[in-house]
Amino acid sequence: MKIAITGHTAGIGKAFTKILQLRGHEIVGVSRRTGENIRRIEHTANLIEPCDMFINNAQTSYAQTELLYAVWSRWQGIEGKYIWNISTQMIEHPINNRPDGQDDLIMSQYRNQKIALEEASRQLKFKNQWPQISIIRPGGVATQEKFDNTHKADVDLWVKSVVDTFSHNENIKISEISVGYTKKRIPI
Ligand SMILES: NC(=O)c1ccc[n+]([C@@H]2O[C@H](COP(=O)([O-])OP(=O)(O)OC[C@H]3O[C@@H](n4cnc5c(N)ncnc54)[C@H](OP(=O)(O)O)[C@@H]3O)[C@@H](O)[C@H]2O)c1
Repeated sequence: MKIAITGHTAGIGKAFTKILQLRGHEIVGVSRRTGENIRRIEHTANLIEPCDMFINNAQTSYAQTELLYAVWSRWQGIEGKYIWNISTQMIEHPINNRPDGQDDLIMSQYRNQKIALEEASRQLKFKNQWPQISIIRPGGVATQEKFDNTHKADVDLWVKSVVDTFSHNENIKISEISVGYTKKRIPI
């Protein structure tokens, strides 16, 4: 397939690029380092339109949600198109706001941007037609060395788990999934 990935130059997007290329797919990457910017919504949607799948991964303000709508309207009713929206597990609980907490304010905005993305995904999914839309929520994934990565998943393993989960069985559709870190594999 031809797969568009935003944020393909680092972290989760880079790991998706690696594994999907190894599996024989053609990647259309959209990142600032390679001259693009997802804030240019219509231009980015035009780049994605000829692809079969869109991994809506790079995050800035509400661009993921705007891109979702722009790509969806180009792909509406076309069989064989897939969109994976990369959200966050932070959606599952409110931000613990402190009166002086600038960081909390930023995280609160981030969470709201992801809530917008998830709500848009559900509304579009509710139409029950192509493109097929999924929401993927990472927990802690070790994408940046500057952070403490002690309790975070290895990024390549995390991405492999996601790809394997979606592709493992014929006729199984995954709509929403949270994938995080755990100390030990379940012995089953
Ligand atoms: N890592 C985690 O633990 C975690 C947890 C929850 C959710 N997530 C979500 O997972 C996604 C990826 O996160 P990550 O940790 O892999 O991030 P990351 O390591 O910081 O990588 C971000 C990628 O996005 C690109 N990017 C940033 N702004 C862009 C823009 N305006 N236009 C185009 N590309 C842009 C960057 O490349 P350039 O600099 O070249 O543009 C880079 O390739 C995000 O949606 C994030 O919210 C991650």
